[in-house]
Amino acid sequence: MKFFLDTANLDEIRQARAYGLIDGVTTNPTLFSRESGDWRTLAEKICRETPGPVSLEVIGQTTAEMIAEANELVKIGPNVVVKIPMTLDGMAAVKELTAQAIDTNVTLVFHPLQALLAAKAGATYVSPFVGRLDALSQNGMEVVEQIVAIFKNYDFAAQVLVASVRHPLHVLEAALCGADVATIPFAVIRELSRHPLTDKGLETFMKDWEKVQK
Ligand code: E4P
Repeated sequence: MKFFLDTANLDEIRQARAYGLIDGVTTNPTLFSRESGDWRTLAEKICRETPGPVSLEVIGQTTAEMIAEANELVKIGPNVVVKIPMTLDGMAAVKELTAQAIDTNVTLVFHPLQALLAAKAGATYVSPFVGRLDALSQNGMEVVEQIVAIFKNYDFAAQVLVASVRHPLHVLEAALCGADVATIPFAVIRELSRHPLTDKGLETFMKDWEKVQK
């Protein structure tokens, strides 16, 4: 299972990379809005510093706008994946971009049938948003499970990228149901390594080792 970091923050990318924990990065307009400076310069740095694909999102709403924007975004770095919203215009753009051998990530997916459309259009990644569904008392992970099953049934090449991750259990459940990727906020990545019994055990080992040294 691949871990992407869900951020546009360079420090977070550098830290997660130093831990050897990330295979890629996903961004969106909201994540860029939290950073300062010119977005394009930042995007170029993110692409240089990320050991894998970097999703950059289009802003255009029509198929023609999305295709034109995608062709500009891919100039930012060789590892750019173009994020396209789950709309009918978006699906037409994905079909054309796939024909142009440009990788795509279909975003804002909330239902398995939307994922099916994205896979049929030829998307490289399909991103169901689990946290936002859970927040509406719908079961986000159930949607992921159904998408994984559908893609398996028909041998779709599209990878299931679990997005809108809120806590470690989302990562566990995504791994158990066979999702290809989880895109995870930095704070949650750190939580994945933690357990109170690990801390307690380490403390005991250190204390006991002092006795051995005497
Ligand atoms: C990633 O590709 C998505 O844009 C992101 O995970 C959305 O997360 P949010 O629901 O925290 O905005």
